Amino acid sequence: MKKTILLLITILSLSATAKSVETVSSPDGKLTLSAGVRQGQAYYQLSRGSEPVINPSNLGFQLSQGLLSGNFRIVGFQRDTKNETWEQPWGEERFVRNHYNELRMRLQEKKGLKRLLNVVFRVFDDGIGFRYEFPLQPHLKQFEIMDELTEFNLPWDAQMWSQPTNGTVYYEALYTKTPVSRKDTVSTPVTIEAKPNLYLAIHEANLTDYASLNLTPRGTKLLTALTPWQSGVKVYAQAPFVSPWRTIIVGSKPGDLIASRLILNLNEPCRIDTSWLDTGRYIGIWWGMHMNDYTWAQGPKHGATTEMTRRYIDFAAQHGFRGVLVEGWNEGWDGDWTRIGNHFKFTKPYPDYDLEGLCRYAASKGVRLIAHNETGGSATNYEQQLDAAFALYQRLGINSVKTGYVNMMLDGKETQHSQYGIRHYRKVVETAAKYHLMIVNHEGAMPTGLRRTYPNLVATEDMRGQEYNAWSQDGGNPPYHEVLLPFTRGLAGPMDYTPGIFNFTNKAVPATHPQSTLAKQLSLYVLLYTPWQMAADEIENYEYQPALSFIESCPTNWAVSKVIDAQIGRYLVMARKDRDSDRWFVGGATDSEARTLTIPLDFLDTNTVYRAVIYQDGPGADYRTNPYPMTILQQDVSSTGSLHINLAPSGGFAIRIEKKD
Ligand code: NOJ
Repeated sequence: MKKTILLLITILSLSATAKSVETVSSPDGKLTLSAGVRQGQAYYQLSRGSEPVINPSNLGFQLSQGLLSGNFRIVGFQRDTKNETWEQPWGEERFVRNHYNELRMRLQEKKGLKRLLNVVFRVFDDGIGFRYEFPLQPHLKQFEIMDELTEFNLPWDAQMWSQPTNGTVYYEALYTKTPVSRKDTVSTPVTIEAKPNLYLAIHEANLTDYASLNLTPRGTKLLTALTPWQSGVKVYAQAPFVSPWRTIIVGSKPGDLIASRLILNLNEPCRIDTSWLDTGRYIGIWWGMHMNDYTWAQGPKHGATTEMTRRYIDFAAQHGFRGVLVEGWNEGWDGDWTRIGNHFKFTKPYPDYDLEGLCRYAASKGVRLIAHNETGGSATNYEQQLDAAFALYQRLGINSVKTGYVNMMLDGKETQHSQYGIRHYRKVVETAAKYHLMIVNHEGAMPTGLRRTYPNLVATEDMRGQEYNAWSQDGGNPPYHEVLLPFTRGLAGPMDYTPGIFNFTNKAVPATHPQSTLAKQLSLYVLLYTPWQMAADEIENYEYQPALSFIESCPTNWAVSKVIDAQIGRYLVMARKDRDSDRWFVGGATDSEARTLTIPLDFLDTNTVYRAVIYQDGPGADYRTNPYPMTILQQDVSSTGSLHINLAPSGGFAIRIEKKD
């Protein structure tokens, strides 16, 4: 009898101590995450139904204060759940569902300092996010992360689209596809074609006061490789502290990756007044510099003159563009600005540029100037002028700034993607919000969904943009590039790719030009999302061009976005519904292969007749020989029908669909 009671007490006290593993499933029950500790090692694993998606993968840190890994016991697990819908001020869709189950695993070192670490997992229907919390505690105050030991242990040597970290500047390498095990260190996002019905994308969300994420394959395991400071430290921190979320989008078809809002959901709700934000299209004194027609610096070919800017403002007003970007307007461009940006003055226009007068002129025409702030990587020089410059722009009615960091080393000492850089870019975005300025950032940080918290961060570059079609020595962006970007870079956030080149002749580098047809340039207005979209060509090339009418009509703020059909890097068809009207816009593009694509129109309202205006490749169109032929036709359509469209090699189409009265 006594023995039985003793046994019972032992069993009861055992079950009162925490279990060594717990599971949490997605709201639809399809994804299951397990987290626990085995022989002191914290780990997680993920499965979809019975198939493994991530095999057991280690968690932890190497701190300069010692290893924070391999010596854990579980203090306890906590659960939470959320099911809410929030509204975006602008975006690919208006309402976003944020529905997840959460598991917090509370860890403590078994021996030594008994330091605490939590790992919070959120499991959504479209994937997972997890992050570390360093709670306030006696034996971990200020600390340095020397390495984050998070692993992503893939069950297969799957094909992965990624760009290399080493040797790549500004995230501007081409994405390539090879098996995971054959890659060197890569930067996120990475996109994995695991199986015919399983696609993954690994990235991060809410990158705040931390280093950017890169991944180093060891066999089929991806190890975290944070971008370091020059000191070798990855992150300087002080408890309480949280890491960014590590994100894994899980889809059964390519379009699921684009449809996922997981990264946004893992960011904090909006913190700024959004009433002043604008969306729309802009043109700029920009391509002319990349084509060598004009210069940024002063001289006979200076582009940013009062006279030229007035012409751009007039054109913008006539054609419904809301902004005019002007590069090379301010002091600092004379000399080698790519080496040192300390000469840039962000409040001092060149003498041939009447900043105040132009702002008045633009306002009289309902257009805004977009300030361009190239820093040459001199972050400190920029920070010292931020308040004065942004206050000036606000006073003049400027509501957006394109920033640039042409120098991988900020202030000549720290790399762009290190914690140093991440702190700087955040300061710019926060200061800009104070002065009601939207930011489009070139070079700099890969987006991580921060636009939810700071929707004035409207877009970034962080990719091989259109500019490579002006001066790259390899002929320009290859035909697959633009149908790949939405599945790679685009998963991180809005892209300032700057589409819309209509003139494919390049006097300076004749072999280099957009490797696309004209119709494909139009398709990019639907396929490459940004709320603040450029028509990049010089305005002379738009005069009397019927194709411009598509750009003029295409919104940049959507109620709904749908992937109709896609194969990663081969072709993509998307439909988006305007947020302010009943109109739908459909874009489709292909790689170097000509195709006929079928577009079922079942997204349209039933029992309604619509009129579709279709801009498609015309007879003989081919990106290699003649990119220009385009046919524009009109046709009545309804939700029960389909369209069949021929795409030229590296061709595309763009369709506007509106209800007939
Ligand atoms: C590189 C940017 O990507 C480009 O848009 C800009 O024109 C130049 N830097 C000059 O700032």
